[in-house]
Amino acid sequence: MDGNRVLLIVSGGIAAYKVLELIRRLRERGVAVRCILTRAGSEFVTPLSLSAITEDKVYGELFSLTDEAEMGHIQLSRDADLVVVAPASADILAKMAAGLADDLATTALLATDKPVMAAPAMNVRMWEHSATQANIATLAARGVTFVGPDEGDMACGEYGFGRMSEPAAILAAVEQHFAAAQGQLAGVRALVTSGPTHEPIDPVRFIGNRSSGRQGHAIAAALARLGAETVLVSGPTHQPDPNGVQVVSVQTAQDMLNACEDALPVDVAVCAAAVADWRVAAAADQKIKKKDGSTPPTLSFVENPDILKTLSNAGNKRPALVIGFAAETEKVVANATAKRRRKGCDWIVANDVSPGTGTFGGERNAVHVIDAEGAEDWPAMSKGSVADRLAQRIATALAKDAAE
Ligand SMILES: Cc1cc2nc3c(=O)[nH]c(=O)nc-3n(C[C@H](O)[C@H](O)[C@H](O)COP(=O)(O)O)c2cc1C
Repeated sequence: MDGNRVLLIVSGGIAAYKVLELIRRLRERGVAVRCILTRAGSEFVTPLSLSAITEDKVYGELFSLTDEAEMGHIQLSRDADLVVVAPASADILAKMAAGLADDLATTALLATDKPVMAAPAMNVRMWEHSATQANIATLAARGVTFVGPDEGDMACGEYGFGRMSEPAAILAAVEQHFAAAQGQLAGVRALVTSGPTHEPIDPVRFIGNRSSGRQGHAIAAALARLGAETVLVSGPTHQPDPNGVQVVSVQTAQDMLNACEDALPVDVAVCAAAVADWRVAAAADQKIKKKDGSTPPTLSFVENPDILKTLSNAGNKRPALVIGFAAETEKVVANATAKRRRKGCDWIVANDVSPGTGTFGGERNAVHVIDAEGAEDWPAMSKGSVADRLAQRIATALAKDAAE
């Protein structure tokens, strides 16, 4: 990130104090940070603190002759590689969506030709309000990227989504953005599996599971954004094919294994698919008919191939990094730690899929990343953010391997 420039727009929310930590961490990594502080923002964090920590002037007023003479507002909006809005209040998001420009922050946001990232922060009701959600959808469709918000206790005493992501998560998103710009995974070959498998009972019936493919598809997209040549082997899902990814569609676990083996050699394999452990021993060639008075059929099962274990033990074809997913409903970390050893993979991303968590098919995920060093707990975040953070971790690990 060394040498990159961030224009940080601080709007009016309690979470504004957290940007001091964010700025410190960005500057440690060689990023130059310049701030625009809204009038409401200055109620929560002083221009003096921001100026001291950025070692730069803090901009606040649109109609300031001095500021305009030093740097016009249009130049200010362009003189950065990335614009970050943190905290992004409900108000500033609404103004951005509507294209309003009634102060320096919103004018700069309308005038910029640079990518914009926002870290929303607000009360849970404000976040869930259909007006805010419509604004988020509008901005996302225009290419604004979002970090968070996270779920948790709020300053106002309520609980839910709306907390600004921690500075570490915003930092990871900024790093990921710059890495993407630099093609951090250029030259790397990646294999990702996603979705459920469908194991036939007869030509019209199958045994499947509730995996939506959202997480696996998001990972393939994130790896491709970092420049990896990515093959996505997917069971049946309703997810659109991610941009820049080669998609191989399969039905059964056996098909999925064959497609994975065909994709080798790769540098990294991420097995995010929910592969059926068993298949029906002898699927019927014809539809099994219900006949009056007959007893229901009995199905017997045989074990499916274990794709994660096969890739982890593929001898000289083994990817440098093999990552599995563990969907657990109890003792999530303990079971996933045992699974990592049993399968012989490098990392396990464990998530709690018990009823009520909304993980299967939902938008959000709270995961634990388990490697030989132990478990890293990530806060609940969107599946897209999990994917970005995982892709960033993969890039860092492969770069470290290459350096050794
Ligand atoms: C104590 C206090 C805390 C606030 N916290 C938030 C917040 O976390 N998020 C938010 O969207 N608005 C919050 N607001 C309301 C905004 O400050 C208000 O909508 C303001 O107009 C935002 O202006 P700006 O977006 O231009 O900075 C808060 C207001 C007060 C008085």
